[in-house]
Amino acid sequence: MEDEAAIAVREAALRAAAEVPGPSDAGQPEAALDPQNQVSRETSASQTDLHEEGLSATPDNETRSIDSDRAARDARVTFRITRGGHNRFVVAVANQKGGVGKSTTAVNLGAYLALAGARVLVVDLDPQGNASTGLGLDHRNIEPSVYDVLMGETDGPSAIRQTAVRNLDVLPSTIDLAGAEVELVNAFSRETRLRQALGAVRYSYDVVFIDCPPSLGLLTVNALAVADELLIPIQCEYYALEGLGQLLRNVDLVRVNLNPELHIGGIVLTMYDGRTRLAEQVVQEVRKHFTDLVYRTVVPRSVRLSEAPGYGVPIALYDPLSRGGIAYRDLAFELADRTGLLAPTREGAS
Ligand SMILES: Nc1ncnc2c1ncn2[C@@H]1O[C@H](COP(=O)(O)OP(=O)(O)OP(=O)(O)O)[C@@H](O)[C@H]1O
Ligand SMILES: [Mg+2]
Repeated sequence: MEDEAAIAVREAALRAAAEVPGPSDAGQPEAALDPQNQVSRETSASQTDLHEEGLSATPDNETRSIDSDRAARDARVTFRITRGGHNRFVVAVANQKGGVGKSTTAVNLGAYLALAGARVLVVDLDPQGNASTGLGLDHRNIEPSVYDVLMGETDGPSAIRQTAVRNLDVLPSTIDLAGAEVELVNAFSRETRLRQALGAVRYSYDVVFIDCPPSLGLLTVNALAVADELLIPIQCEYYALEGLGQLLRNVDLVRVNLNPELHIGGIVLTMYDGRTRLAEQVVQEVRKHFTDLVYRTVVPRSVRLSEAPGYGVPIALYDPLSRGGIAYRDLAFELADRTGLLAPTREGAS
């Protein structure tokens, strides 16, 4: 017999699914659903040598470079990305709900794809600057930032920084960005500022992830206006699907008015807690209604994932063999596979 929570989750999923504009056109060759939740296994391994060798808890503003080949080996990233292919694309990571794992997803997918050989840019479009700090930048000391870029005070390439991971760059943000929504209200082409700013530089990367703020305001519209696809993290919690319909309606509006290329690339289930029946119900309902839009990899709740930003590094450097690390590696592989980024060897399917 169903309990109230199950019924409520089902109804919310139905309402949100009704907003999806037809089947995804992302071209997923392996979209068949696995009835099992693909939650990565916990391993007994603890932190890597890299961590033991001195990542400090206070990220400085220097670019610490690490041995990316070794990091890729330690993280068991055996798949490779075809570089410079025609499949370069821009992914907006968005959900107006706060704290669902947007920044964690943008940073960690970016890092794993970079370790697999892709050239990756993470655009931090959130005044909270979580993606910037998560990638080792000191948010008190960032100049120029994405704010200056949106306001036309500097060009995109001048604000882009390298991170410790080879081929992983970041266009950082600061709290100044909070003013941009207001300052741009009467500005010319305010919705396409980011698209203009990224201009040709986006073609120097195989993938660009845009970490959106938890709102559907002008910043998120700017992200959707330049994105090829939207990636929606959904937390495996009771209110997970609230607001999803509104997000999907906004996608329609942006597609019609600003960016005909935009499509929904996928839904990622995050913070799965296998001990709760509710998490399982959310997973089942979301899969039932959004079918092949939902990534098979489910990101578990993992304390390691929440610790890594404190060290200014992605999980791939902090604790790659933790459950969270393995999940983001698997998700990166799945995304690369879905979007045609995988090099032909297709090694390393995990
Ligand atoms: N799978 C996970 N397991 C445990 N903690 C997580 C996980 N994913 C994210 N977190 C933590 O949960 C918090 C929210 O995650 P995150 O910042 O990625 O969400 P967000 O959607 O970007 O939030 P916001 O809407 O504020 O931008 C952070 O402290 C993060 O470290
Ligand atoms: Mg965030």
